[in-house]
Amino acid sequence: MSHPMMPEATHDERAEQDFIRDLKIWLGEQLDPLQRQLVEATSCSVPDSHDLDIGPLRRKLLEHDAYRSWISVRRASQEMMWDAVGSSIDRQLESLTAKAAVSEPRGSVTLNPAFTPPRYIAALDVHMMPGGYAHARAEHLGQRVHYVQANAERTEFPDESFDFVFSCVLLQETSKAATRKIFEECDRLLRPGGVVIHCEVPPMEEGVWGKVICDFESLYNNESFWRGVQTLDLTAVMHDAGFTDVQRVFQGVTPRASRDAIKGFTERSTGVFRSWFMISARKS
Ligand SMILES: C[S@@+](CC[C@H](N)C(=O)[O-])C[C@H]1O[C@@H](n2cnc3c(N)ncnc32)[C@H](O)[C@@H]1O
Repeated sequence: MSHPMMPEATHDERAEQDFIRDLKIWLGEQLDPLQRQLVEATSCSVPDSHDLDIGPLRRKLLEHDAYRSWISVRRASQEMMWDAVGSSIDRQLESLTAKAAVSEPRGSVTLNPAFTPPRYIAALDVHMMPGGYAHARAEHLGQRVHYVQANAERTEFPDESFDFVFSCVLLQETSKAATRKIFEECDRLLRPGGVVIHCEVPPMEEGVWGKVICDFESLYNNESFWRGVQTLDLTAVMHDAGFTDVQRVFQGVTPRASRDAIKGFTERSTGVFRSWFMISARKS
């Protein structure tokens, strides 16, 4: 969707960004299947590779140059992506800041100077997005949106003040305890009959490959809470928070524009980074 707040890439920036995108696609499509073979073959010789903590299997895998190279390139490609995007945005920061100053805004951003982010975010996270960019983008798209900085575990909105609550890849950056509180908060905020939807990374794939990917994200890719949300029974947490009519669906991701892309929702995950997971429920 084009809008004036969209940073523009120069020829060289575009070339760099395209290279990183293609590197990531190549990793996912070409290297991952080979690593999966190595992981599955190696796991046969490690007795406790059924455990969630795959320490013994990881140590065995680290003996392989192929495995060490794979985790290094995966990690490097992630850093390259953010470096490339960051330097392009830095170059045009002044003009983007000027465009963000909308004279007669339809919506708003409410920042609370006394707000203290939860320590599990403040200690780790580099993107405690305060909503300024999102607000500017909404204004340029002609949409009236009110952004409020708050802790999703306990916002300051009154009880039963919303018909619909939606979160997008929020839970994978919170602890299990925070996820429970966020679900309870959603229940508090909704009017009877209201609907909540959380869009997330899919639950951990069964088998040893799912555990290895989870291990990589948690240990080597700064996704400290990844394992938590991937192994939490979100349906049970929804019920614990008082919700009914819990539904779970997946939506396929396509790495490139394609007419063959999976359309609509499916009942089966095609794996992490290949599908999004949506869980919805209703307040009775
Ligand atoms: C992966 S980002 C997704 C951001 C955005 N929803 C999107 O789709 O682009 C997850 C965000 O959740 C925020 N977050 C984590 N725990 C939170 C909490 N308790 N309250 C509010 N935000 C939280 C993090 O600071 C981070 O910005």
